[in-house]
Amino acid sequence: MKSIKNIRTDYVKNELNFDDLTVHPFDLFKLWMTDALEQISEPNAFVLSTVNTEGKPSSRVLLLRDLDYKGFNFFTNYNSQKSQDIESNPYVCMNFFWYESERQVRVSGRIEKLPSESSEDYFNSRPYESKIGAWSSPQSSVIESREVLNNNVKDFSSQYTVDVPRPPHWGGYCIVPDKIEFWQGRSSRLHDRFVYSLEGEEWKIVRLAP
Ligand SMILES: Cc1cc2nc3c(=O)[nH]c(=O)nc-3n(C[C@H](O)[C@H](O)[C@H](O)COP(=O)(O)O)c2cc1C
Repeated sequence: MKSIKNIRTDYVKNELNFDDLTVHPFDLFKLWMTDALEQISEPNAFVLSTVNTEGKPSSRVLLLRDLDYKGFNFFTNYNSQKSQDIESNPYVCMNFFWYESERQVRVSGRIEKLPSESSEDYFNSRPYESKIGAWSSPQSSVIESREVLNNNVKDFSSQYTVDVPRPPHWGGYCIVPDKIEFWQGRSSRLHDRFVYSLEGEEWKIVRLAP
């Protein structure tokens, strides 16, 4: 019988040395994402943690959709719980775990709404069903039953038979980082950890003990 107490993975596939680091952390992130795309399904999945007005944190999985010069972009419902948290506290933390490459990336920073044209562009690239889904789900609200969603889908599909406009409550955010940690699993729990911190315009790098 398997037991979580007995799961032991020794991480031996890669190492991260000071010489491997890029000047800008986005370049290292892109290298790691390129590797992850080869090895992992949905490597763009990450955990986003937000904190509400009472100082209580919550986390959920989201999908990264872009990394532009400013930061990490994702899309969601602007009325959701995460969006309410962000409204009152724009400081967030995101975490990627790529088991197959034995890597973890932790990003902290301030979140901002993407310009509406970026949300528009991305919304228009989605399949019809996802567009109708965005209208049909009052994300994070209590609903009576599955029927509520089914009826909403029916109603919005008959309202928008071909062109589906972007709902005003749906759009993107950009996480603008001030700290990014790259964690590479190593043998015997002696992992490699490097943290980039933004000081003025410059990224400073330190190594942390595992
Ligand atoms: C693999 C995966 C990807 C997801 N991607 C998204 C996403 O990109 N946007 C989103 O709003 N929810 C996404 N979700 C659902 C969220 O985890 C979450 O349930 C939802 O956003 C509501 O969160 P909230 O109530 O904390 O706001 C995803 C869930 C999983 C498991």
